[in-house]
Amino acid sequence: MSFFCFSFLLSLFIFPSASQSLRGVLIDCGAVVDSVVNEQNWVSDYGYVSAGKPKNLTVDVLDYTLSTVRTFPLKNNVFKKFCYEVPVYRGGKYLVRTTYFYGGVNGNLNPPVFDQIVDGTFWSPVNTTEDYWKGMSSYYEGIFKAVGKTMSVCLAANSLTDSDPFISALELVLVSDSLYNSTDFNIYGLTLITRSSFGNNGSIIKYPDDEFDRYWEPYGQHSPAESFSHVSVSGIWNHPPAKVFRTRLTVPKPEAMELLWPPAPLPNATYYIALYFADDQNSFSGRAFNISINDIVFYPNLNVAPAGMVVFASQWPLSGITKITLTPVIGSSVGPLINAGEVFEVLPLGGKTHTRDVIALEKLKESFKNPPPDWHGDPCLPPQYQWTGVTCAGGSRIRVTSLNLTSMGLSGSISPSIARLTALNHIWLADNNLTGSIPDLSSLSILETLHLEDNQLSGEIPHSLGNIMSLNEIFLQNNNLSGQIPSSLLGKPTLNLRTTPGNPLLSQPPK
Ligand SMILES: *[C@@H]1O[C@H](CO)[C@@H](O)[C@H](O)[C@H]1NC(C)=O
Ligand SMILES: *[C@@H]1O[C@H](CO)[C@@H](O)[C@H](O)[C@H]1NC(C)=O
Ligand SMILES: *[C@@H]1O[C@H](CO)[C@@H](O)[C@H](O)[C@H]1NC(C)=O
Ligand SMILES: *[C@@H]1O[C@H](CO)[C@@H](O)[C@H](O)[C@H]1NC(C)=O
Ligand SMILES: *[C@@H]1O[C@H](CO)[C@@H](O)[C@H](O)[C@H]1NC(C)=O
Ligand SMILES: *[C@@H]1O[C@H](CO)[C@@H](O)[C@H](O)[C@H]1NC(C)=O
Ligand SMILES: *[C@@H]1O[C@H](CO)[C@@H](O)[C@H](O)[C@H]1NC(C)=O
Ligand SMILES: *[C@@H]1O[C@H](CO)[C@@H](O)[C@H](O)[C@H]1NC(C)=O
Ligand SMILES: *[C@@H]1O[C@H](CO)[C@@H](O)[C@H](O)[C@H]1NC(C)=O
Repeated sequence: MSFFCFSFLLSLFIFPSASQSLRGVLIDCGAVVDSVVNEQNWVSDYGYVSAGKPKNLTVDVLDYTLSTVRTFPLKNNVFKKFCYEVPVYRGGKYLVRTTYFYGGVNGNLNPPVFDQIVDGTFWSPVNTTEDYWKGMSSYYEGIFKAVGKTMSVCLAANSLTDSDPFISALELVLVSDSLYNSTDFNIYGLTLITRSSFGNNGSIIKYPDDEFDRYWEPYGQHSPAESFSHVSVSGIWNHPPAKVFRTRLTVPKPEAMELLWPPAPLPNATYYIALYFADDQNSFSGRAFNISINDIVFYPNLNVAPAGMVVFASQWPLSGITKITLTPVIGSSVGPLINAGEVFEVLPLGGKTHTRDVIALEKLKESFKNPPPDWHGDPCLPPQYQWTGVTCAGGSRIRVTSLNLTSMGLSGSISPSIARLTALNHIWLADNNLTGSIPDLSSLSILETLHLEDNQLSGEIPHSLGNIMSLNEIFLQNNNLSGQIPSSLLGKPTLNLRTTPGNPLLSQPPK
């Protein structure tokens, strides 16, 4: 077990809290028009998603953005993954928040339980049942780095999903690169467990108090800082909003304070923990304490100053109930205090499909008139949510090894870019309405089977097919191919070639 623990004390100046606008996009799912709510611009989701249906809730909601949802109809569970694709700055660090309020929109009493995905990473299950029964919406928040020009956020049906997955709102906010920067966002994401403003019984602290619209939930008995005027917090890592330092939890005497926080038991995993402090008395008040988590020293002898400080750990193992104990050190004349805290689960990223394969598949998708509706987000990942018809293999590069869209009712043509999927073993596009010609596939050096039968393909059979040594099955019957069958394909004992019935214009080469 390895612990990482650092603390930084920064006493700078008070910046006037310039209320700049958020950078990012707030998407009101299922809405037909854009709107302004609490001085923030919400946009309709039309430009970001092509699957699903917008719906209006018939129940009254307090929050305007909850009044519409988008639902994703399950058709015999064939298509399982439904994605929003949002333009982002490549390399930017984003706060991603999904909000769900069921409102009985599927007709079932209980909301469905399903999964959520960010790019190639399985993010978390979505179970809003408990909140829904309390009349509340549910939100999930994570911090992820943008690896491409768009970030995909997807909902996916799992084996327990009993009605259509739905979503009320999706927010992507670009945050300062310094936030939570002890985490390597190339290999991890952070998924929020809890973010609390201690001693606050008011409403959630959010934008514009928090410049990135993080939500700081009230926690514990109301306990305002005695003299907030002494506190002059700024420049603290992670930029907590000044407002969280107006309240705190403390004990009147120099004795230990114990918090069972985060309030719910945690799964056995690794967590990012940040605790925020600012003294509301003179810095020489002699307030010093040890911090321990589940009786393991987290930070010893913390001397809180009015300038504020954060104590954090990037990878701290937790499991079950968490107990935070603040114990005054010998000689401390006042009790410990704490203003705010955050706990995130550290989420190893799932990786992404080899970029060349992604680009080739995107081109192929463009050449189909009606690609499968779940062809959005990462094609191969997470592994249980590959695109319909796409099979992949892992390893240091995630590659597409098979394409099987037999009888999918596809029309349009086969883009020549299919030949750039160089890890393909199988291409099965039989029994569709594909037109146009068969592209040059000679770069597919490990292709074993090619099934294009029962379409309306025309033109000649490419000679270069004869160069693919591994090919042992070519089915082309019932198309409208013309010209001569390439001699390179004939007389190969290992090759099963079918060109008839159909293809009346196709002829044998002269003997
Ligand atoms: C939802 O309500 C809006 C505004 O009243 C309306 O324009 C829209 O057509 C409704 N959407 C659906 C799916 O009924
Ligand atoms: C969803 O949450 C409810 C309430 O906590 C629980 O009873 C139910 O078992 C959960 N469903 C799944 C599939 O996890
Ligand atoms: C994280 O951000 C802080 C505050 O901006 C900066 O001082 C520090 O060097 C950064 N650390 C890393 C690892 O980038
Ligand atoms: C918070 O607690 C204080 C003191 O107990 C009380 O006066 C105030 O009304 C409470 N505010 C809310 C929003 O509950
Ligand atoms: C948590 O998981 C780790 C690694 O899987 C294991 O070594 C440890 O014993 C587990 N801890 C608890 C409390 O279950
Ligand atoms: C505080 O932590 C230090 C260092 O771990 C330890 O020596 C000291 O006994 C602790 N004090 C209390 C009151 O727990
Ligand atoms: C492709 O799909 C069809 C129909 O679902 C199936 O019969 C066939 O075996 C599949 N081919 C491969 C190579 O998996
Ligand atoms: C091809 O298109 C026609 C007309 O649009 C349709 O009747 C037929 O079912 C389609 N065939 C396949 C295999 O999708
Ligand atoms: C078959 O292709 C020929 C040209 O090669 C074209 O004239 C004919 O209309 C096509 N037939 C069908 C049924 O598409």
